[in-house]
Amino acid sequence: MTPESSPFRPGQPVPIEFFVGRSPEIERLRGMVNASTQGRFKIGFVSGERGIGKSSLAAFVRHLVEHDHDVAGCHVFLGGVQDLREMLRRTFDRILKESIDKPWHQQLITLFGDRVSKVGLFGVTLELNLEERDMLAMERHFVPSMRRLLESLGEHKKSLFLILDDINGLAGSESFANWLKSTVDEIATSQQEMRLCILVVGLEERRQELIEKQSSLARVFELIEIAPWSDDEVRWFYSDSFRAGGAEVSQEGLDSLARFAGGLPVLAHEIGDAVWRTARGPTIEKNEISEGISTAAEVIGRKLLNPQIFSAIRSKSYHSIFRKMADEPKTHFRRAELRELLTDAEKKSLDNFLRRMTSLGALEKDPEVRGGYRFPNLLHALYFWMESQRRRREK
Ligand SMILES: Nc1ncnc2c1ncn2[C@@H]1O[C@H](COP(=O)(O)OP(=O)(O)OP(=O)(O)O)[C@@H](O)[C@H]1O
Ligand SMILES: [Mg+2]
Repeated sequence: MTPESSPFRPGQPVPIEFFVGRSPEIERLRGMVNASTQGRFKIGFVSGERGIGKSSLAAFVRHLVEHDHDVAGCHVFLGGVQDLREMLRRTFDRILKESIDKPWHQQLITLFGDRVSKVGLFGVTLELNLEERDMLAMERHFVPSMRRLLESLGEHKKSLFLILDDINGLAGSESFANWLKSTVDEIATSQQEMRLCILVVGLEERRQELIEKQSSLARVFELIEIAPWSDDEVRWFYSDSFRAGGAEVSQEGLDSLARFAGGLPVLAHEIGDAVWRTARGPTIEKNEISEGISTAAEVIGRKLLNPQIFSAIRSKSYHSIFRKMADEPKTHFRRAELRELLTDAEKKSLDNFLRRMTSLGALEKDPEVRGGYRFPNLLHALYFWMESQRRRREK
């Protein structure tokens, strides 16, 4: 079927009506935002592996609280940002830009004064031009600056829900870690109300890295960990999405899709999209699902894996090892188990295979099991499995 009619959105934020699952996380976040509307400052950390749906969850909750709780939302994307000042600059710039069609816009313009300029053809967008001393002031006086900003929002909205997304580049910054801690302390000791809920979004290993920099941060955040979707959630996702596109999949087809997507939304969209393109009519056939999954493996490998890992996995010398790797998705395995399944010739290349995959970071040694290996994340585990199935089908 045509790519334009595909209900899947690989690589893009999910439209609100296709958002699946995450009810407990949504409720917790709503509770936090609600508390902030009563003047209690809240700060949370949404963690989970790549492609699990962190940004989508944050965006979904923002949509809900803007509509149901009379809250102003602001989603700041900090991908690539490595220092605190740039983070602060982007945050205030985003708050300003997102206010353009809101009733508190004029108050913000007044607040930022001559630091705001109109840019772009026809002056359609605003730019916040901050000088070095402004940035320094923002860093040192973040809490009072934020209070002023919240005051100008106050007559229109009950609180601000500020999403600091993709802080991965900042996690190694000591000044960011210390700033976060002292900001939270300053608010807590001031005894004044603060109608603000901050949501920091990043990988779990980055949260750990932040804590290493500033150990008290461990107890500062309310932690919201995102787990993979359950198989039922993946099946709902597929049956709703195909139905929305006017197509249908059998129960068996849904089971097979759920097995390959393994609860990882980013894979679910890629696989769904590939199956959609492969299908010749609105009733999705079994062989179209298998064909779609093979195509998806190619796309996913190129898009989501490190290119060196991808090319090592595709190396001809490992095809036959992959063919024997697994009957089902596994997160860890033992060398001896795999070795047993191999021919003499394959056994000879096994150690080379394990060494290469480990040195590239596609596999890690399992410290708790002798001769044990594990995948660093779900994406790699599922990809190895897809590749293994693909090689078998080729045979
Ligand atoms: N609850 C959901 N329902 C439907 N689709 C979702 C859901 N969560 C995520 N997705 C889809 O999965 C993909 C990855 O989601 P998202 O970008 O939110 O993940 P992420 O955890 O923020 O990833 P990264 O770590 O790369 O920033 C997107 O295509 C998105 O549309
Ligand atoms: Mg994200």
